[in-house]
Amino acid sequence: MILALETSCDDTCAALVGEDASVHASVVSSQEVHERFGGVVPEVAARHHVELIDVVINEAFARAGAGLEEVSLVAATRGPGLVGALLVGFCAAKGFAAARELPFAAVDHLHGHVAAAYLKPACFEPPFVALIASGGHTLLLDVPERRAPMEVLARTLDDAAGEAFDKGARMLGLGYPGGAALSRLAAGGDGSAFEFPTGRGEDFSFAGLKTALLYKLREVDGSDETVRANLAASFEHAIVEALVRRVLRGLERSGRSRLALGGGVAANRTLRARLAGLGVELFLPPIELCTDNAAMIAAAALELEALPYPDYLDLDVYATGEGPLR
Ligand code: KG4
Ligand code: ZN
Repeated sequence: MILALETSCDDTCAALVGEDASVHASVVSSQEVHERFGGVVPEVAARHHVELIDVVINEAFARAGAGLEEVSLVAATRGPGLVGALLVGFCAAKGFAAARELPFAAVDHLHGHVAAAYLKPACFEPPFVALIASGGHTLLLDVPERRAPMEVLARTLDDAAGEAFDKGARMLGLGYPGGAALSRLAAGGDGSAFEFPTGRGEDFSFAGLKTALLYKLREVDGSDETVRANLAASFEHAIVEALVRRVLRGLERSGRSRLALGGGVAANRTLRARLAGLGVELFLPPIELCTDNAAMIAAAALELEALPYPDYLDLDVYATGEGPLR
């Protein structure tokens, strides 16, 4: 079995996955402590990972009914992410591997989001285009085959899609992280009530949208429930259309007719419905595999050449904005 750890942001995650890509246990402990700060505080996240990492690893073994001796490969997220947070899972994994002289796989977090598609029971096979949209990243990738390099078709120039949802939610007084709450408010509104920008060009850009909502809130009665629902629906509509437009362009450019979704924003019902209506073969993972988890890190590890003991001991992590998929 593969033991995988993921601590790139504010979720402390451990998973045990079989070499046949079956998930025996996937444990995620979300740090709610950041809510009152309106965003993830890196140092606080790292300190909580230190407290939680042993707990989630033990929980994964308990849920899988497995023993330490069943682990034949250890994997962890190397980056991109918050360096202090990454170091906790990465060092714990290296320590676990070194103590047993096991091989180790250092996994790119974004590769992990793509590899979620390879887990059982779905086993969605390349070639496909992957849209990874979360609080930290917005990336459109061409995935020609499992082990071949992925091509970045579009990236974000400023905010990530989930970050845009969160900032919009904050302006509407919906708390943090507010993507799901904004979407719930939007469900009762009219998405065509207000016109919001969807960004120009091939890449994603959500900074203009955020500013547009800020200005709109100065003009309208932000306490009126109908107005608020219409604002939320129009804001959500703009993000979804911005994503869909680049997805269509990416599918056309790469000649693919299959699409996989990943990242927390994949939980968005409007986005899921809109993509389902495109007529392409679509892989929508279960929500727990869209948001950060360690099972996807194990799935990516299966596609990598693991390093034998002790070759991995001096490996370091890398920060947000670094790594092969930028
Ligand atoms: O993948 P994830 O759990 O963590 C990151 O790697 O960032 O994604 C979290 C992001 C947050 O920005 C959150 O607001 C957004 O996903 N999100 C949603 C929904 N559920 C979560 N955004 C829109 N609609 C949703 N239903
Ligand atoms: Zn992520």
